[in-house]
Amino acid sequence: MLLLAVENIIANKSLNSETASESWTGFIKFPKKRHPSKVLIFQKEGRYAAIHAYCPHEGYDLSSCSLQEGNVIECPLHGKIISVFGEEAESLPVILENGQFVIQWVETDSKQ
Ligand code: FES
Repeated sequence: MLLLAVENIIANKSLNSETASESWTGFIKFPKKRHPSKVLIFQKEGRYAAIHAYCPHEGYDLSSCSLQEGNVIECPLHGKIISVFGEEAESLPVILENGQFVIQWVETDSKQ
């Protein structure tokens, strides 16, 4: 497992009162990738998780999406649901270490 620091972090919005969640946008340099990847980090109940900022369907930028009930986000373009927290989560685990977001990343062929 590698620990990858998230750089250039921007808070997306204030606390989402409906789901009591927060989100940030940042960039990660994954091994073997030439350019940093844009990610979204979500916080809920003290847990953090990251997803790629672009929809896996056709690449819509999900930066404006908030966490919804059920711990998912819904892509506004065609409605793809992406699970952020829970057993079905499609996210990467994140820890907050000395004020720095760090992604816990296990290299596989499918997780980039
Ligand atoms: S681009 Fe997100 S659902 Fe199509």
